[in-house]
Amino acid sequence: MSINKVMVIGAGQMGAGIAQVFAQAGLSVIINDLDQGALDKGIAGIKKRLERAVGKDKISETEKNETLDRLAGTTDMNDASDCDLVVEAVVENMDVKTKVFKRLDEIMPEHAILASNTSSLPITEIAAATNRPSQVIGMHFMNPVPVMKLVEIIRAIQTSDDTYQAIEDLTKKINKSPVEVEDFPGFVSNRILMPMINEAIYTVHEGVASPEDVDTVMKLGMNHPMGPLTLADFIGLDTCLYIMEVLHEGFGDSKYRPCPLLRKYVKAGWLGKKSGRGFYSYE
Ligand code: NAI
Repeated sequence: MSINKVMVIGAGQMGAGIAQVFAQAGLSVIINDLDQGALDKGIAGIKKRLERAVGKDKISETEKNETLDRLAGTTDMNDASDCDLVVEAVVENMDVKTKVFKRLDEIMPEHAILASNTSSLPITEIAAATNRPSQVIGMHFMNPVPVMKLVEIIRAIQTSDDTYQAIEDLTKKINKSPVEVEDFPGFVSNRILMPMINEAIYTVHEGVASPEDVDTVMKLGMNHPMGPLTLADFIGLDTCLYIMEVLHEGFGDSKYRPCPLLRKYVKAGWLGKKSGRGFYSYE
């Protein structure tokens, strides 16, 4: 099956990046958001990143203009009616996502594939909310999307081989590296990353070392490009807590219990970089 026209739902930090990489790879892209302000901000961000790439001689002025010509914005989800694929990147909330998928199932042509960029929610449950579960799949991009090479492709229990193959082919076409993953809590990326971040928070909570020293150990000692607490601030501490809760509930194993200090920070509204304060201050 050939995928030529895509709708990306949600113009936030992930959706805008996903729309950009599709448009740069030559696909026709419609980006949708409920909120006109968020849509404008997402598209402005794409323009800014492309202009920066021209400034650094990474792409030509013509490539930038052609990419922008392939990109359109809308607040009307009905515009997905002639798309071959949709990639959903709205808030990490099962009720919101299943509502979006039910609606898309009604709008989209029969052959279309419905993908979710969820970082932790079960694709199997999202698929079950539609009448085409074999055409539902997880397409988990990493942040920042234009930079990071990986796409975790998550197979729901219902996903067909044809759907999987179409998404693997597309991932290669947009110059990313696919990894096939079964639908289990946290997939592979967050099942390994989040417990490490949570343990780093326990290390601070128990007074073993300061956030700066924990990050230094992992950077200089393990060659990680970024310390786990800096990374947690970058991802958002609310998101980290949410994913730990998904792991804890999904596996029923106390090794995934979220650190009380993480809960306290989230309750205080210290969500990391986006709120100006997390383990570090961004004022
Ligand atoms: P964000 O908060 O930056 O963007 C979400 C956007 O969705 C907002 O602009 C909002 O207005 C829009 N939206 C909400 N409900 C909508 C609806 N019903 N229809 C259309 N638009 C709607 O969130 P972000 O960080 O981009 O995350 C999006 C998804 O990507 C989540 O599922 C998240 O778990 C996943 N993800 C996030 C990563 C990260 O590092 N932030 C990494 C990988 C996946």
